[in-house]
Amino acid sequence: MKFFVDTADVAEIRSLAELGMVDGVTTNPSLIAKSGRKIAEVIAEICDAVPGPVSAEVTATAFDGMMKEGRYLKAIAPNVAVKVPLTVDGLRACKALTGEGAMVNVTLCFSAAQALLAAKAGATFVSPFVGRLDDIGQDGMELIADIVEIYANYPALTTEVLVASVRHPIHVVQSAKLGADVATVPPAVLRALFHHPLTDKGLAAFLADWAKTGQSIL
Ligand code: E4P
Repeated sequence: MKFFVDTADVAEIRSLAELGMVDGVTTNPSLIAKSGRKIAEVIAEICDAVPGPVSAEVTATAFDGMMKEGRYLKAIAPNVAVKVPLTVDGLRACKALTGEGAMVNVTLCFSAAQALLAAKAGATFVSPFVGRLDDIGQDGMELIADIVEIYANYPALTTEVLVASVRHPIHVVQSAKLGADVATVPPAVLRALFHHPLTDKGLAAFLADWAKTGQSIL
C-alpha cells in the first residue's frame, strides 16, 4: 500500500520523506491557502522533494478553464497529478487530460457510482473522502469496500483507490485490509503509525537491563 502525505507544508514533507514512507503528496486549495504561498512555487518544491505523484488541484469549475489550469499545473513537473473535482466538467477534463498524458486525481468522491464514473473517465486515482462521510454519520470505510469490490470486477479499469480525508490510524489499517491502493494521510497521522506504548515501554525495559550489564556493543 502506498502512503501519500496530505499537506502543502514543504518542510514537513521533506522531514517525512526522510523516513522513507512517503510515496507521493496530495494538496488541495485549502492546504495551499494554509501554506500562504503561490501554488506554482510550492508545487514545484514538493515535486522536487518527492519523486512520486504530487496532486495539484484546479480551481476552475468549467471544462475549458479546467483544461487550461490542468495543462499549466502539469507543466510544473513531470510528477504532477492534476486534481479535478468529481463533477460533470471535472470528469470530462479528466478524460481529456489523461488523453494528453497527464496523471489525474479525481477528488471529492462520495459514492460508488461516482467512483465508477471516475474510472470510466480514465482517472489515475479516485479520492473517496472517508472522514467527511464519517462526519455526517455515514460509514466512509463502507464506501472504500464498495469501490474496491466494483473495480475488482473489471480488471481493465486501472484507476487506483486513493483513500482521502483520513483522520486516524484506524482509517489507514482498514484501508489496507480492504486492499485500497493508496492512503493520503495528514503528517500527524503518518507519524502516529510508528508508535505503540508497549514499544516504548519494552524499549525502556531492555535499555535499563542492558545498562546493568555494564557492556557496550561497540
Ligand atoms: C486529499 O486529497 C483531500 O483533499 C484531503 O484528504 C481532504 O481531507 P479533509 O477532509 O481532512 O479536509
